[in-house]
Amino acid sequence: MIRKAVLPVAGLGTRMLPATKAVPKEMLCLINKPVIQYIVEEAVASGIRDLIFVVSRGKEAILDHFDFSPELEAELEERGKKALLDEVRRVSGLVENLSAVRQKKALGLGHAILVAAPLVGDEPFAVLLGDDIVEAEEPCLRQLIRAAEELRAPVIGVERLPREEVHRYGVIDGEPLREGLYRINDVVEKPRPEEAPSELAIIGRYVFFPEIFTYLEKIPPGAGGEIQLTDALAAMIRDGKEVYALELKGVRYDTGNPEGFVKATVALALKDPELGPKIRKFLSDLL
Ligand code: UTP
Repeated sequence: MIRKAVLPVAGLGTRMLPATKAVPKEMLCLINKPVIQYIVEEAVASGIRDLIFVVSRGKEAILDHFDFSPELEAELEERGKKALLDEVRRVSGLVENLSAVRQKKALGLGHAILVAAPLVGDEPFAVLLGDDIVEAEEPCLRQLIRAAEELRAPVIGVERLPREEVHRYGVIDGEPLREGLYRINDVVEKPRPEEAPSELAIIGRYVFFPEIFTYLEKIPPGAGGEIQLTDALAAMIRDGKEVYALELKGVRYDTGNPEGFVKATVALALKDPELGPKIRKFLSDLL
C-alpha cells in the first residue's frame, strides 16, 4: 500500500516571473483553485494519506492553504456563508497528515527528494511535481500506483509527445511489455530532437522504492550543479534494476510556463458547468 507522497515545491519558478517574486508558483490560481490543490486532490483520490512537502523560504502559503483557518471559518459562519464554509473546511481536511521539510538550497529535484528521505522512511512512495495537472477518469497517480504494486518496482509516468517537443523533458528508451507499459533501458535528460531515444517524455508523476535514496546519495551533481533525478534513475538502470514507464491515460496541462498556464485556464473554464457556456461565448465573440 502506497500511502506517502513527496511534493517537491522548493524550486524558484523562474519561468513564471514576475508572478513568482513573492507568490509561490504552486499558489497561482486556475479558475479559483491554486494549482497545488489540483495536485493534492489527485494524490488524495489515489489513496495517499501522508503528504510531505519539500519547501524553501517563502513557500509557507502552500502549507497554510491545507491547514485549518479558524478566523476565516468563524467569519464565514457568522455571515451565514454555509457553502463557502463547507468548501474552506473541505480543503483544510483534504490531507490527513501533512508535513514539510526544508530544502535550504535549490540543488535540484533529486536533492529535493533526498531531503524528504527521513520522513519517507523505509517504504515505497509517490512523487508529484507541481507543474503538471492531469484530467483523467482514473486519477493519474492511481494508474501508476496500481502498476507499481503489481510489478513491485518503480514506475514513472510518461506521455507520448510530438518529437519536436521532447527536448524540454527527460525521455525514455523503453522496451514495450504491454499496451502503455515499458521496461526502461535508459533515460536521457532534455535530448536534442534528433538524439531523443523515443517520443515518450517523463511527466511529473513517479512511484519509487526506498532504494532510489541510495542512488540519489551517491550520484555526483550533474547539469547546472544540481542533483538530477534522471541521473539517479540512469544509474539504477545501469545496475540492472527494473524501472518501468507507464503512459498515463488523461489530458495533461503543464502550468509551469505562461503558454501552458493560459491553455490550462481556458480548458478548465470551458469544462466548468457554470463558467463553460459563458466563456465559450466570450471566446467565440472575441475570435
Ligand atoms: P523545475 O525544473 O520546473 O524548476 O522543477 P522550477 O524552479 O519549479 O521552475 P523554473 O524552471 O525555474 O520555472 C521541477 C520540480 O522540482 C522542484 C520544483 O519546485 C518543481 O516542482 N524543485 C526543483 C525543487 O523542489 N528543488 C530544486 O532544487 C529544484
